Parts: sequence; structure tokens; C-alpha cells
Amino acid sequence: MAESRWSPDSWRLKPVEQSPAFPDAGALAEVERTLAGYPPLVFAGEARKLKRALGKAMAGEAFLLQGGDCAESFGEHSADNIRDFFRVFLQMAVVMTFAAASPVIKVGRVAGQFAKPRSSDFETIDGIALPSYRGDIVNDIAFTPEARIPDPRRQIEAYRQSAATLNLLRAFATGGYANLENAHRWMLGFVKDSPQSGRYQEVADRITETLGFMRAIGLDPEAHPELRATDFYTSHEALLLGFEQAMTRVDSTTGDYYATSGHMIWIGDRTRQPDGAHIEYARGVRNPLGLKCGPSLKADELIRLIDLLDPTQEPGRLTLICRFGADKIEASLPPLIRAVEREGRKVLWSCDPMHGNTIKAANGYKTRPFERVVGEIKSFFAVHKGEGTHAGGVHLEMTGKNVTECTGGARAISEADLHDRYHTYCDPRLNAEQAIEVAFLVAELLKAERLSAPARHVDAAE
Ligand code: PEP
Ligand code: CO
Repeated sequence: MAESRWSPDSWRLKPVEQSPAFPDAGALAEVERTLAGYPPLVFAGEARKLKRALGKAMAGEAFLLQGGDCAESFGEHSADNIRDFFRVFLQMAVVMTFAAASPVIKVGRVAGQFAKPRSSDFETIDGIALPSYRGDIVNDIAFTPEARIPDPRRQIEAYRQSAATLNLLRAFATGGYANLENAHRWMLGFVKDSPQSGRYQEVADRITETLGFMRAIGLDPEAHPELRATDFYTSHEALLLGFEQAMTRVDSTTGDYYATSGHMIWIGDRTRQPDGAHIEYARGVRNPLGLKCGPSLKADELIRLIDLLDPTQEPGRLTLICRFGADKIEASLPPLIRAVEREGRKVLWSCDPMHGNTIKAANGYKTRPFERVVGEIKSFFAVHKGEGTHAGGVHLEMTGKNVTECTGGARAISEADLHDRYHTYCDPRLNAEQAIEVAFLVAELLKAERLSAPARHVDAAE
């Protein structure tokens, strides 16, 4: 079926799920006009470079590491937080690259991850019901009627913060901080005495040794930018479509439209209706796209969504971010993989082991047991091995801080510990130690996948 003509605002003719009720349409339009005049945050060429890298991951030659806050906030915006996040990300990537001998594509949920979908339009505390918090780009988390009124001016602040965050991340990625010779220095203070630190030191020692060897045979890191700098990309859920539209620009070299709010954007599990506004917006921009796949997604609907989002089977275009839950993945994932294989579609399969594993602790905190996170990742790799397909990535909610939001892990955080440092604005995140623990697990799974590679399914047509 031919789709109707796309334009940056064609989503406005479709039903929009999760749309905030802005009280002042004039003020909203004014903000969107202002944003449309601001410089792009990212460039089309960068998004294309990421797409090429993701195309490699689709072919089984690389692995996607995507992660960051569930919701960035205005209150937690600081250089220290950005640095701590970036360095735990670098540590994870190094562990995975080195142990698995596989390139790791680094994509943060960062510099734009502000808008949140909610299961309910209202939040009730002690019998008082107020509109739900929808992320700092929409309203304020404080539980008062004024705070919860959607305010479009927050979009300007989200843009400003995204630009500042991205500026620092670019400096870290290319200005020397990410130099592999610094691998020892990326160790965060509080991780130093953790159960993971010995394992990480070993990896860092091997890197230092390898670099020494390379220098000895005449390969100087100064002459090799890939040792001194790294490619780091940004991503967020494209939920607030007025903001996304304002940041949509034509790329002068190709004439194509790109979302310039981040390198990669994804569609959430609540807004992936094939006839809805979010799919309509995403299908027309040329960025790499993510699509969250939860337990309610049926195989035929997935194929319809792939037709809409990636009609030309472009390498790196579409990442399916699976978030079923540790108890559901083994039943839910195989039918989707089989449908995609049967229809001959090319996608990147990534595992979000967070969103299907959220529970309410006895003391009321929303948490995620680490063993369920690990369980879903292991099942993800096992299912792909069984189907002969490539487990291509992980998608994590994580922070560089020493928070207590997910139970378990090497330090066995208990439900009683959750109140110590429960800082998230939305969903519970892995802390730095737990995130590094996941990286070691993924590295082992990737290594096992690589060692059994000859058994990998090869398409008859290839
Ligand atoms: C998220 O990634 O924070 C999120 C809301 O995920 P999902 O759409 O998969 O529920
Ligand atoms: Co979340």
C-alpha cells in the first residue's frame, strides 16, 4: 500500500498518543518557531556515519551499546554527571571491545532524553490526583498543580541543556579524554574497591601492554586518531513531536530530511501504532531509528512497521529494541525473529533488559532486580543462537553515579537499601558498578557467540 506524502508536519494529521495538554497553544507555537530557528544539535553526516556502523552490527561485525538515564533532568545537569556517565560508558565499551574482539558502537541516551511516556495520565498520592510528570521538557516533577502544568518554554531549556551536554561529550570523545592510554584513569573512585575493579584493572593492563607493543613496532598512538578519540553518538525517544518537527532539517548535501535533535531516535512501546503520529514522523527522517518491541507486539504488526520505517531495507536503518521481561522473552522473541527472517528483512536486534523487569518493592520503590536484567540478556543471546541470528546490542538505563535504584549486583543492594541514593526522575537505573558488571557479562556472551560463529546461519541468497 502506498503511503501518503510525508512532510515534517504530516504527523499532525494522525492520532497522537502521549501528547501533553499544553494550555496555551499560542505560546507553544511561538516556542516551536523559535526552536526551528536554532542551529541543529547534530549533523546529517554524523547520523549517516552511525547508520553505517549499525549496518556493520546488522551483519554481525559490531555490537551496539546504548544507554543512559531513563529521563535526563534539568536538576541533575552538571559537568561531573556527564563526565561520570561518559567514563563508565568508556569502561564498558573497552571491556566489551577487548574481551569480545568486536567493535562497539557507543550511543548514549543523552543530550535530548527528556520526554517521558506514562502509563497513566494522572498520578495519585494520598487521594490527590494530578497530571503525571512527563519529563522535564514538558512539566516539573514536583507534586503540585502548578508544577504539573505543561510549559512549552521548557523545550528551550531542554535544547540549551542538550547543546551544552553534547558540547562536553564531543570534547571528551575527541579531545584526549577517551585516549585508550587513559584506560586506567577511567576507573571511578567508588568503583575502585568494588568486586569489578580487579577484572577491569586486568583489561586496562592488557590494553597498556598492547599499546606498548604497538609503540615498540612503530605504531604511535599520536599518528592513529582511532586510539586517541572515539565516536560517541546521542539518542532519545522521539516522543514530543512538536519539538522534533522544529529540529527537523533538510541536509544540504543529499536533500533529505534529518532529525537534528540527536543522531538516533527511537519510537517507544506505547507510541508505535502503525497509523499513529510517531511512526508517521519517524518514517520520513533518514536517521537510524529504534523501535521498542514489547510483549504486545504481534509478528504481522512488526512486519507492517518495518515496511513503514524501512521500506528499502537500508543497512543500519532499523534497530529493534526488545523489552519483553526475563519471564516473557523466550516466548515472545522467537516468533518475531522468525517473521523477520521469513520475510527476508534486515534489522539489528538489541536487548533492553530494563523495561520488562520493573517491579514495585515492598516499601513502594519502583526497582529492577539485577538478576532479572541479567536473565533477560542471557535469554536474548540464547534465543538468537537458537535462531541462527545475531544478538546485536544492549539498551540500558544506567548512570555513572553510585545510586541505589536496582536491587542486586555484586554488592547485593537490598530493597531496604533503595532509599539511600534513589535519585532517578523516572525509572530505576543500573549504577556504575552494576553497569560494568553487565558489560563483563555481555563480553562473555559475545565471546561465546564469536567462538561458535561458523554455525551462524547464512541466508541462502547470500
Ligand atoms: C524508555 O525507554 O524509557 C521507555 C519508556 O521505554 P518503553 O517505550 O520500551 O516502555
Ligand atoms: Co525508562
